[in-house]
Amino acid sequence: MPDNAPLEHYIEFREVSKSFGDNHVLDRVSFNVVPGETVCILGRSGVGKSVSLQIIMGFLKADSGRVIVAGQDITGYAEEQMEPIRKKVTIVFQNGALFDSLTVGENVAFPLRETRGLTEQEIYQIVDGLLEMVGVQEMRDLLPSDLSTGMKRSVAIARALAARPECVLYDEPTTMVDPLMAQLLGDLIKRLKIQLKLTSIVVTHDMRLAQKLAERVVFLHEGRAIFFGTYAEMEKSPEPIVQEFLQLDELKIEA
Ligand SMILES: Nc1ncnc2c1ncn2[C@@H]1O[C@H](COP(=O)(O)OP(=O)(O)O)[C@@H](O)[C@H]1O
Ligand SMILES: [Mg+2]
Repeated sequence: MPDNAPLEHYIEFREVSKSFGDNHVLDRVSFNVVPGETVCILGRSGVGKSVSLQIIMGFLKADSGRVIVAGQDITGYAEEQMEPIRKKVTIVFQNGALFDSLTVGENVAFPLRETRGLTEQEIYQIVDGLLEMVGVQEMRDLLPSDLSTGMKRSVAIARALAARPECVLYDEPTTMVDPLMAQLLGDLIKRLKIQLKLTSIVVTHDMRLAQKLAERVVFLHEGRAIFFGTYAEMEKSPEPIVQEFLQLDELKIEA
């Protein structure tokens, strides 16, 4: 592979390795995401999906390999160099990470207050639009504790969008919600990708979500990216663990 990052890759892992002591989590993992594309990262629990997202955000550093984010090689970036990157690329954490003491509206307004010198009226309108976009407009004055897990995720997505990112990283957006809510969240992520032309990475073990959203899929197993390609290609993968995932999902549908 050439040394300089090809510009067509918005995000790229090049032979990325990451260990915590003896725990070798990622072992020369490579994949890339082109602008406007959605890539799903699949794999069993503990395989390094969230760690991969943290490396993209610069919260964790790779031990070796190169990491491209927003078209820039961030491998050696210091904390302050990551700040402009984090304006372009935001993450929606699994737990939503909302501020418990702030209302839904104030949670979404938070990134707006930090920037841009907007008036209160402008903030109100932007928040209104964002809440409407994710379908929780009538919950504006409620506290996070009043909301279901799925609603909290929707609010967290609205807050992520308030910063007008180019790219959103979603960590397990449909885990621990009922099937209907999982479908709504999947539809929402798909709609946002189209409307806002977002580049996205969706970490999940929900194969149906991957099928719905992903242009391409990375399958992590025992530290390696054992598959990287389209969902249709993945269905033909000879890897036993990939086939197990696909069959488990068929069982779920039949159940
Ligand atoms: N900050 C950390 N310090 C030490 N070990 C960690 C840290 N973050 C994650 N790990 C370990 O890395 C492995 C992968 O974790 P993670 O990426 O969260 O898995 P998942 O694929 O379920 O998201 C796990 O064994 C986890 O215990
Ligand atoms: Mg995780």
